[in-house]
Amino acid sequence: MAKLCNDEVAIVMIPLPAQGHLNQLLHLTRLISTYHLPLHFTGTTVHLHQARTRVQGWDPLSISNIKFHEFPTPCYENPPPNPNSTTKFPSQLMPSFHATCHLRHPITSLLRELSCSNKRVIVIYDSLIAWVLQDAPNIPNVECYSFRSLSAFTIHSWNKPNSVEENDGFLKNLPSMKDSLTLEFLEYSKVQREYRKNVSSGDLYNSCYEIEGLYLDLLSKGNSTGHKQWAIGPLNPVKPFARKESRKSSICIDWLDKQEPNSVIFVSFGTTTSLSDEEIKELAIGLEKSQQKFIWVLRDADKGDIFNGKSRKIELPKGYEERVGKRGLIVRDWAPQLEILGHVSTGGFMSHCGWNSCMESISMGVPIVAWPMHSDQPTNAFLVTEVLKIGVVLKDWAKRDELVSSVEVEKCVKRLMVSEEGDEMRKKAMELSKSVVDGGGSGKEMDSFIAHITR
Ligand SMILES: *[C@@H]1O[C@H](CO)[C@@H](O)[C@H](O)[C@H]1NC(C)=O
Ligand SMILES: *[C@@H]1O[C@H](CO)[C@@H](O)[C@H](O)[C@H]1NC(C)=O
Repeated sequence: MAKLCNDEVAIVMIPLPAQGHLNQLLHLTRLISTYHLPLHFTGTTVHLHQARTRVQGWDPLSISNIKFHEFPTPCYENPPPNPNSTTKFPSQLMPSFHATCHLRHPITSLLRELSCSNKRVIVIYDSLIAWVLQDAPNIPNVECYSFRSLSAFTIHSWNKPNSVEENDGFLKNLPSMKDSLTLEFLEYSKVQREYRKNVSSGDLYNSCYEIEGLYLDLLSKGNSTGHKQWAIGPLNPVKPFARKESRKSSICIDWLDKQEPNSVIFVSFGTTTSLSDEEIKELAIGLEKSQQKFIWVLRDADKGDIFNGKSRKIELPKGYEERVGKRGLIVRDWAPQLEILGHVSTGGFMSHCGWNSCMESISMGVPIVAWPMHSDQPTNAFLVTEVLKIGVVLKDWAKRDELVSSVEVEKCVKRLMVSEEGDEMRKKAMELSKSVVDGGGSGKEMDSFIAHITR
């Protein structure tokens, strides 16, 4: 890696305060910190605390060139998620997004201050929080880059839902965007897009050419304006986790240590999904009937402030935990997902296919049972199952109004964990992981981005 010591270029990170987004931007901060540039990670007190306590694979407070700027958290409503809602979009987070837009003034002050003492100030902001940067064009030496937290595949297919000519036509089977987002969120993201237009000097993707080169190329070709882009993923640490002595003790990892290679399916739907009581019952029965080993993270979705308010007590069928006994581990709080995916005993991942989870799974070489819930997840699930062919579909988006049955759960889990087809997918996932880790964008593309901003 090139070591560019130019302390006249300061970098300011501005995340969207939702876990998958916070996490990706924090991991990106770690990658940039190895180039010895001063980094300023901004956010509300609550969300910076959240990002730091949940991050895995490294300690954010141990890196001296990362400075955290905790701005007072504006007051906002903190409703619980609704597991019975007809759409799975996490509307409970919207007040925290709106509140974070109030960081416009403290962020502007920080940029002005840094602008006076540095040759250049580089801002890397989540594309969904562009509103806070509306004063940036008036500050000298400030250059803004948009972090796109979506896959290139999703952005490409959302941009051109009707254009299939550059493909073999299979894109015509893409899941519809219908019901994946709320009107409230569409309004919000439209506003962010308007502000993004005025400030962006380029785009950064948590992806790489090994995973979706065709779609990254299509995105850059689609832009004749000389707009720059870098595919600098995977952002999460990809090295195998250090063995017992150096890692934090965890029930999940201790349990995995006792299982056979590739014998466990990890079941987790991220931080924005709340399953209904009915869905939980079907999933529980399906996992039990599959006779496979599993770790199941049984949590409700995050609230806008995860440190406040009660969360729902989720009930399992009577006697369930006794029946599955040692075959299943049920985890009701925060689980070390990246470490679990990186463990040799883990052979499959039942996932909502958020992009952060997809990248973690791909980089750790774990194939997926896809149960997309909202937003970009249906398209990510399509990428994983139809394009990369390292997964099976549990929830078909065309049947999004139907309950996922225990029979389907059982079938998909067995298909991935105990079939030749499943072994083939695991092999493919391992090969992809290897090419991503060896050749991925966090090496050469990152060098190119750093060379550009320190030019
Ligand atoms: C969701 O519906 C179940 C009945 O299916 C009910 O018991 C529960 O209280 C409801 N939860 C919420 C948060 O509305
Ligand atoms: C094209 O460039 C603009 C900025 O010039 C950017 O906002 C937009 O996201 C780019 N479009 C695509 C498809 O990448």
